Amino acid sequence: MTTAAATPAPAPSHLPDAQTVTEVAHWTDRLFSFRVTRPPSLRFRSGEFVMIGLPDERGRAILRAYSIASPSWDDSLEFYSIKVPDGPLTSRLQHIRPGDSIILRPKPVGTLVHDALLPGRRLWLLATGTGIAPFASLLRDPETWEKYEQVVLMHTCREVAELEYGRRLVAGLPDDPLIGEMVAGKLHYYPTTTREPSARMGRVTDNLVSGKVFADLGLPGPLDPATDRAMVCGSLAFNLDVKAILEGWGLREGANSDPAEYVVEKAFVGDGI
Ligand code: FAD
Ligand code: A2P
Repeated sequence: MTTAAATPAPAPSHLPDAQTVTEVAHWTDRLFSFRVTRPPSLRFRSGEFVMIGLPDERGRAILRAYSIASPSWDDSLEFYSIKVPDGPLTSRLQHIRPGDSIILRPKPVGTLVHDALLPGRRLWLLATGTGIAPFASLLRDPETWEKYEQVVLMHTCREVAELEYGRRLVAGLPDDPLIGEMVAGKLHYYPTTTREPSARMGRVTDNLVSGKVFADLGLPGPLDPATDRAMVCGSLAFNLDVKAILEGWGLREGANSDPAEYVVEKAFVGDGI
């Protein structure tokens, strides 16, 4: 990880809903995270997303959906972002530095929230790529640890370096003053790669269907609708494949208005979708 030098850049204070960047960390040439100031009026549930962006050359806002990666109690807001080389937003956003301003529309929404799940004993957080962002929020929220006896985080990326943000996050949980003691013995972290050798390999879907993840973690499998709950966040193809597996095991998709056994949200909208 490299951290941007804390050289303040001029903040264009004319931006509507402007928030100030306070930290930037680059994890790979395709991934970075950053923190911004939190609007005092912003209330959100851990796992929700907001629209953030930058003005274009003509001053029009380029806005995109972003999961808030920090928990609802945090004083500032963290985001974990892809860098799309020709992406209208991230080709510019990747160059932000502390002191810069971004636009943040303070209207949080989303389905990856505790309210959309019925009570259960074990929570499965299933992510690929930047889909770990909403779970970075939920993992740092005391409500997650109060509600569940066990939490399993399965995060899969093509390469080892792409797992580093999640690894650091998980490694820091025991030292978190708010939830550190609650996490002890409850979290099962299962990072895997698919295109670079690492300690654990394979797609989330394959490791669920083969039963490998249950055997490796010493947990009962497959997921049981009576006790297991799941939150899913990845590409559309990933989400559809995981949904099919969970439905096959008898879990039903929940919503804010109709809680059930699992919830899904897209980590991004793919080309042509
Ligand atoms: P876009 O024109 O938006 O995207 C160009 C192409 O890049 C897409 O067609 C797709 O193929 C690819 N792409 C876009 N985003 C990603 C991604 N995250 N991972 C892999 N490929 C991608 N992005 C984040 O980086 N972090 C988040 O926390 C996040 N949360 C989101 C939550 C929701 C509900 C949705 C719908 C999207 C979220 N996104 C997130 C995606 C984000 O909205 C933008 O698409 C992304 O920032 C790229 O913006 P862009 O304008 O540079 O390129
Ligand atoms: P794989 O390398 O086998 O394609 P991407 O960068 O394409 O979004 O993929 C991120 C991670 O998600 C990769 O490890 C990829 O595995 C995995 N993945 C992509 N599509 C699916 C899917 N439909 N089901 C399960 N895992 C998937």
